[in-house]
Amino acid sequence: MKLIQTISELRTELEAFRKEGKTIGLVPTMGALHAGHASLVKRAVAENDVVVVSDFVNPTQFNDQNDLLKYPRTLEADCALLESCGATLAFAPSVEEIYPEPDTRQFSYPPLDTVMEGKFRPGHFNGVCQIVSKLFLMVEPDRAYFGEKDFQQLAIIREMVRKYPFNIQIVGCPIVREEDGLALSSRNARLTPEQRKEALQISRALFASVDFGRSRILRETKEYVEECIRRASGLELEYFEIVDGNTLQPVNAWDESNYIVGCMAAYCGDVRLIDNIKYKG
Ligand code: PAF
Repeated sequence: MKLIQTISELRTELEAFRKEGKTIGLVPTMGALHAGHASLVKRAVAENDVVVVSDFVNPTQFNDQNDLLKYPRTLEADCALLESCGATLAFAPSVEEIYPEPDTRQFSYPPLDTVMEGKFRPGHFNGVCQIVSKLFLMVEPDRAYFGEKDFQQLAIIREMVRKYPFNIQIVGCPIVREEDGLALSSRNARLTPEQRKEALQISRALFASVDFGRSRILRETKEYVEECIRRASGLELEYFEIVDGNTLQPVNAWDESNYIVGCMAAYCGDVRLIDNIKYKG
């Protein structure tokens, strides 16, 4: 595996592969890689001749400067993991390389980006679309891989690809969880052992609500999850919404849609965690 830090080097490498008729898979990441990322990279390796993994903490998607400063950075360990997964190129550019001047492009996909993360993290999805569109233009992949943990991000990227339009197949990959259920996240590295136990209440509440919801109306199920998190020590609920999986708009009854997902964001100390669960579809 080759580590690349400039766009021109990336283009040179990819041109050579393209001349050989090779297919290219892209896995965009912000580094601090874990088994969830490894599952994306392995799938990309299985489905493409060449796999590029970007490793770039994108400043434009952070609306909280503290969160940006504290974001874990582990390039050396990331490269070792990528090598073991069979990636071809790791692309780890500097901020100046990606943003030699401020990116003034505005991406807006209402109503997908006005709810949940879009509501609580203003500008976040604009920043995500800025970096992901730049990566798409630089790499021109055949396929790009994203985790379903960032459920709303995946829906917005699909919409950006449709509207831009990019000729790229977006592949959504299932959430990878610890054995006890905690969804893998780079931010988990910032949890103390005590907080790690508290954070477990997030996935527990979501799993329990699937059973609960089988015999209850949707509103009761939403309240059940909210109550579980309110009662859990160490957690502060930011939102829990039960939404249509395509439009991301709240649904009021189980028979309102064939695709229903519950999405949550909660703070464990100052670590913001998200998770989601599929009820239908
Ligand atoms: O999901 C992430 O890690 C980031 O939002 C992404 C897609 C790599 C863009 O920076």
